[in-house]
Amino acid sequence: MTDTAASTPTDLAAFIEGLPKCELHVHLEGTLAPDLKLALAQRNGLDIGQTTVEEVEATYQFDSLTSFLAVYYPAMGVLVTAEDFSDLAYAYLAKAASLGVRYVEMFFDPQAHTGRGVPFSTVIQGYRQGIVRARAELGISGELILCFLRDLSAEFAMATLMEALPYKEWIIGIGLDSDERGNPPSKFAAVFARARQEGWQLTMHCDIDQEGSIEHIRQALQEIGVDRIDHGTNIVESPALVAEAKERGVGFTCCPVSNSFVTADMKADEIVSLLRDGVRVTVNSDDPAYFGGYMTENYAALAAHAGLDAGEVLALARNAFEVAWLTPRARDGYLAELDAYAARHGVTG
Ligand code: HPA
Ligand code: ZN
Repeated sequence: MTDTAASTPTDLAAFIEGLPKCELHVHLEGTLAPDLKLALAQRNGLDIGQTTVEEVEATYQFDSLTSFLAVYYPAMGVLVTAEDFSDLAYAYLAKAASLGVRYVEMFFDPQAHTGRGVPFSTVIQGYRQGIVRARAELGISGELILCFLRDLSAEFAMATLMEALPYKEWIIGIGLDSDERGNPPSKFAAVFARARQEGWQLTMHCDIDQEGSIEHIRQALQEIGVDRIDHGTNIVESPALVAEAKERGVGFTCCPVSNSFVTADMKADEIVSLLRDGVRVTVNSDDPAYFGGYMTENYAALAAHAGLDAGEVLALARNAFEVAWLTPRARDGYLAELDAYAARHGVTG
């Protein structure tokens, strides 16, 4: 591994900044920055109890997945019209593009909106409009992953899947998020089987240090047959499952900064051990408006904490393009861009 140009921390930061990146684990609702939240509340005539960015920021306080979700869901009340959803997607994509992100697959939680009376069509048409606008104006490409809320019923998930069918072309895959406690992957086996039949790619959150983490990862891999796992680094506790995930080329979408908010640390050792074992781990931001770290901060935090060199940073970026749900042609294009960038910096992975 040569690592000439990007061998000091400053050089590595610049290398990360310019690196063509792919993000696979970001919740659009988790990109709701305090200033946009305030602007949307004002536009919709809603009293949210805060009137300054600092006051909104002060409400973004949590130390676990459950306490995070308790802040996160009520905040979405400011999203009402298709224009609101479009503005949210566009604002995130503009920020991501400014940080060198070239392609992104973004989660959205339709049930968090339909459950409070916003039609599914409003949500998806708005998000799609923001994606199309960002592509045209900024050159960044994005796709949507529909997530079910796992603390709600499997029947509600199935009904939501049915609502999504007319918009199949706008949805690249199906995921599962929200509170994992007592809500294992197997609860959604039928709805994920139907999603697979419809031709969708599949992923699921297996959050960090959950009750039954290993059993949930096993179910996701063996009973659901997911293509990727979101978080999922507890898999290091089971060498047999690590071997299976590696053999199948399953991608893991890790979020170091998010981990450090909802657990005791960023799980750098687990992420790097999987990387060095040849498992396809990737770096992502999760809910950047809440955790304060976008893609560059996540790469930089992990690299600093684990002492990664530029070749390993490059390997993480390559993994993301490899496990993204791209066409072979698009994937080859991004990988060529990545290789050219690495060659210009004298880095090989
Ligand atoms: N886990 C579960 N639910 C979520 C997350 C997460 O990381 N982010 C937003 N909703
Ligand atoms: Zn997540």
